[in-house]
Amino acid sequence: MSDQKATLKVDGIDEPIVLPVYSGSLGPDVVDVGGLTSKGLFTYDPGFVSTAACESQITFINGAEGILLHRGYPIDQLAEQSNYLETCYLLLYGELPTVAQRDNFVSTVHRHTMVNEQLRTFFNGFRRDAHPMAIVCGVVGALSAFYHDSLEISDEHHRQIAAFRLIAKMPTIAAMSYKYSVGQPFMYPDNNLGYAENFLHMMFGNPCEPSNISPVLARAMDRIFLLHADHEQNASTSTVRLAGSSGANPFACIAAGIAALWGPSHGGANEAVLDMLQEIGDVSNIDEFVARAKDKNDPFRLMGFGHRVYKNFDPRASVMKKTADEVLAELGIDNDPLLDIAKRLEEIALSDDYFIEKKLYPNVDFYSGIILKAIGIPTSMFTVIFAVGRTVGWIAHWNEMISGTYRIGRPRQLYTGYTKRDFVPLNQR
Ligand code: SDX
Repeated sequence: MSDQKATLKVDGIDEPIVLPVYSGSLGPDVVDVGGLTSKGLFTYDPGFVSTAACESQITFINGAEGILLHRGYPIDQLAEQSNYLETCYLLLYGELPTVAQRDNFVSTVHRHTMVNEQLRTFFNGFRRDAHPMAIVCGVVGALSAFYHDSLEISDEHHRQIAAFRLIAKMPTIAAMSYKYSVGQPFMYPDNNLGYAENFLHMMFGNPCEPSNISPVLARAMDRIFLLHADHEQNASTSTVRLAGSSGANPFACIAAGIAALWGPSHGGANEAVLDMLQEIGDVSNIDEFVARAKDKNDPFRLMGFGHRVYKNFDPRASVMKKTADEVLAELGIDNDPLLDIAKRLEEIALSDDYFIEKKLYPNVDFYSGIILKAIGIPTSMFTVIFAVGRTVGWIAHWNEMISGTYRIGRPRQLYTGYTKRDFVPLNQR
């Protein structure tokens, strides 16, 4: 922390307010506004556009330049040269694993892929047509009813087991939510398979015949998980941190993150992108939808476009677009109409003054749905896939906070309601 200062002059307060300024290793300096309360002032920042809520060493984003680093490693290098579980290790422990560390990590994940058999009956309480996110949110929150030996958040061993359980069980629970919705039997994990391969086995396998998972699809699925692994203090990660700051158990905190991710402005956008592309239906209709997206009186937005932080290409979108081309080519799908619409929509939007001026570029959700659809994942499962990938980021941030010094998060407000007034008895109203 440096000894820089910021001086704030406020009308009506004689003395200027001197506030500490801290510099990180990358990114903007921050002004510590903790001392404002004693001066009778709050900061005001709806949507936390300019607020650093914590210190972290996990992920860095430079939105102007479209840079995303996980523990210093650029996302495109991880996507090309690493895999999801190795990236999980990196996010959790801060370094890329050695062969021995990786093998131990993977074998530990494998020991936790099954869920308590009693949990399988939990699903029977849901309607078959329940949205998979509703099921996953409920089931993950219920994990704290089963795993009592990983709830003591002050115990590092408990925190580590909880991390392994969540990373290992999320694919199992996700696949179970899909199987339940289609009335097929749940598939047990097969620990001889890789993480993404095992997920596809549990999604599309059946007890009557061996699974035959395409290595192309397994690799694409793994990359999708990797590209969704973490993204600094986004809405769902901030939700996990806030829930964790009260001392809630890790399963409850991750369930809170899943709930926050569900919204169409956040993780629900990937499902909304596919619905939008299908609604557009043909490249000839794109201009109409772009006009609607620009119309202030029309609530329609181009789903998969824009980002609070990226005012340049989302580097994940660039990798995702390349992966979409690779997967479709390797599957022999040489003219996917939705991909054609997506590419044409991107071209039109990126040459339109409205999108240029507002710096609206495709984000991580714009192309992911094209790949997921090619893999055979139903649209309703897209946000669940995002939650599976992001679980490690949520857990890494939760653990970073709980293993350090933290206080319960408790924002204040600008109150504009009634001043004090006396109660009016019913017979006088
Ligand atoms: C994710 O935070 C993260 O890191 C999230 C994420 C992660 O990995 O965790 O990256 C994942 O959530 C990606 C974003 C997925 N959401 C979408 O694709 C939904 C469509 N995008 C928008 O709803 C919007 O861009 C947000 C929610 C992503 C960002 O909203 P902001 O930062 O609050 O920006 P804004 O709504 O204030 O928009 C700024 C301007 C507005 O115009 P004005 O009021 O200034 O005139 O841009 C316009 C908006 O109307 N605008 C859009 C638009 N997005 C913003 N106009 C048309 N289409 C869009 N998609």
